[in-house]
Amino acid sequence: MYYMIYVSQSTKPMLTPELEQLLQKSRAWNTSKSLSGLLIYRYSSEGKSGHFIQMLEGDKAEVRSVYDKIRLDKRHHTVLTLSEGNIENRMFSEWAMGFKNIDDATLSDLPGHARLGDSTFNPATFQQSNEEALKLLKFFHSAS
Ligand SMILES: Cc1cc2nc3c(=O)[nH]c(=O)nc-3n(C[C@H](O)[C@H](O)[C@H](O)COP(=O)(O)O)c2cc1C
Repeated sequence: MYYMIYVSQSTKPMLTPELEQLLQKSRAWNTSKSLSGLLIYRYSSEGKSGHFIQMLEGDKAEVRSVYDKIRLDKRHHTVLTLSEGNIENRMFSEWAMGFKNIDDATLSDLPGHARLGDSTFNPATFQQSNEEALKLLKFFHSAS
């Protein structure tokens, strides 16, 4: 089993119908390829910018192949791979693509390290420490 985690910046604020369309397509594809994972979208009204963080897991070739498509998607840019490798068991086996839209209220409940999308958010923090990204994903997994 292979996994991949990345962060990216949304090209423009994502509206609910746009997110729904993205998820609908992604879930259909991921289901057909036995891929699972979690997508987090965070819009910061303060920073006027949105960020994605996504974890994908499944067969290595399938993970790589969908990631190649995702990277080229014009809805986001500055796609930064945080972590990839082998895992024994899926983290999100029940989700073709789980989704969380983090608002400010949710964010205040997050562990202190999860500064996703606020004005001080710096993807490099996650890159320096893959643990941070995993902690964030696990937090949502356990909260679901
Ligand atoms: C943040 C983000 C996450 C995405 N996640 C997935 C995903 O998990 N699975 C998927 O099939 N497409 C995902 N997509 C959509 C792909 O980029 C692409 O639009 C889709 O695979 C359809 O590609 P096609 O038009 O070449 O068939 C995502 C796009 C974005 C912007």
